[in-house]
Amino acid sequence: MLPDVFIQEGPIQARDETTMTANTTTEQIRIFDTTLRDGEQSPGASMTLEEKLQIAEILDEMGVDIIEAGFPIASNGDFEAVSEIAKRSKNSVIAGLARAIHADIDRCGEAVKHAGKGRIHTFVSTSPIHLKFQMNKTEDQVLDIITDTVTRSRNLIDDVEWSAMDATRTPIDYLCRCVEAAIKCGATTINLPDTVGYATPDEYKAMFEQIRERVPDSDKAIFSVHCHDDLGLAVANSLAGVAGGARQIECTINGLGERAGNAALEEIVMAVRTRSDIMPYVTRIDPKFLVRASKMVSGASGFAVQYNKAIVGKNAFAHESGIHQDGMLKNAETYEIMRPEDVGVKATSLVMGKHSGRHAFRDKLKELGFDLGDNALQDAFRRFKDLADRKKHVYDEDIEALVEDEITILGESTKVIALTVIAGTGGPQKAILTMDVNGQHITKECTGDGPVDATFNAIKSIVPHEATLSLYQVHAVTEGTDAQAEVSVRLEAGGRIATGKGADTDTLVASARAYVSAMNKLALRQQTGNPGALQAV
Ligand code: KIV
Ligand code: ZN
Repeated sequence: MLPDVFIQEGPIQARDETTMTANTTTEQIRIFDTTLRDGEQSPGASMTLEEKLQIAEILDEMGVDIIEAGFPIASNGDFEAVSEIAKRSKNSVIAGLARAIHADIDRCGEAVKHAGKGRIHTFVSTSPIHLKFQMNKTEDQVLDIITDTVTRSRNLIDDVEWSAMDATRTPIDYLCRCVEAAIKCGATTINLPDTVGYATPDEYKAMFEQIRERVPDSDKAIFSVHCHDDLGLAVANSLAGVAGGARQIECTINGLGERAGNAALEEIVMAVRTRSDIMPYVTRIDPKFLVRASKMVSGASGFAVQYNKAIVGKNAFAHESGIHQDGMLKNAETYEIMRPEDVGVKATSLVMGKHSGRHAFRDKLKELGFDLGDNALQDAFRRFKDLADRKKHVYDEDIEALVEDEITILGESTKVIALTVIAGTGGPQKAILTMDVNGQHITKECTGDGPVDATFNAIKSIVPHEATLSLYQVHAVTEGTDAQAEVSVRLEAGGRIATGKGADTDTLVASARAYVSAMNKLALRQQTGNPGALQAV
């Protein structure tokens, strides 16, 4: 029998009747978010447990049907993250990834068993190039592996997804045999990924049509798309796959993922919603969460969202040219096909200042969707007051940056306490830094080739380490010379990568915080053995 989430086939009532006319033939598309698995596989995008839990919480709340929470066999850290997300999820199915190996499947089953609704997602390569060079197996051997591993997964759990890695470069006759074997052994979802982002929309649609037509009992499984963006076609291909009969879309927030990334969840959701006139589908996603989720994932991964990114980019609803502004003033629909508020964009508001009290601050955090415990609230309030003293206007974006920074700092064993930097043309630039290292305050003074270098040298002299700096990026949170700087720092050591973020009106303080945050993540990864990015799956 298919698990609950699958039995809503056929006509369903549209979720939002203001945008979806009473269309009785509307079908539901399941949104399978893999930000925490495929997204986290991007080199440098690895996240802490705390960050993963927060992202899973917002995905669950926004209506994601299936959350792929990680790859449990990859590390103890990944196992813990999947298990913990499984325990906490309220509505979403929690999936874990497993190679076609018994140990992977068993470990995955262990992790997802805590979920109200759990899924094992197992995969094997099917294309000739993967069989020859990666697996060194024949087609018949891979068919036996599919039978063996799907059966093993079904013995552990009812909800099993099977993926044909590199499906789009697999001859259709052989792909039909593989899919048939997986369905026969009880796979409830069949995913046919465009692993290398090679397909075009017409080809991808035709592949689903042929497989569904030719494979016996194909109607017993839900078909799924999973598209990579190497040619910039991931979203178009995903929608084409749906036109070919797929009813699950695998995607990630901000399109995070291996290489050029995956199909972006926010683009899929808004395309389906905005063009409901030609796409008779609905998703369960509440789009008001999209911008917040995007910011959260960008903060945790350290991957900035490009300004012109569809739906969630800073400029996605900005109008610069006189003609566009004139049109917008007369009727927003002249140049906007979606309303910014639909995706959670709020007009920047000047809301808080140095006279705002703790109560107003707590209410503001609630409005922005943050629910902090007493200690975190206390610290965030102290930093807000400090910010309001230094910055003329405190915007919602400032508070968001400050609180996200606070959440990152919470639980870190090493923290920045005080920093004084002497900079200017005279040189050498000097940094005097005090840090809290496991409860002990240590101060060091260092020079460097510029103030940032001096600051990082001071950190290195307090906490000696071998990590090398592979990214240093500064963004202004709002406009004006008193804007908070949001800094991303990526460190690499021994094949492990970690990205940290810091925010402050002082770019150097933000830089020090970001560096220390990346250092803490790297240290954690070294302790838990989390490789930060999956090696050859
Ligand atoms: O891109 C891919 O093929 C994958 C599979 C593991 C589903 O991510
Ligand atoms: Zn993938």
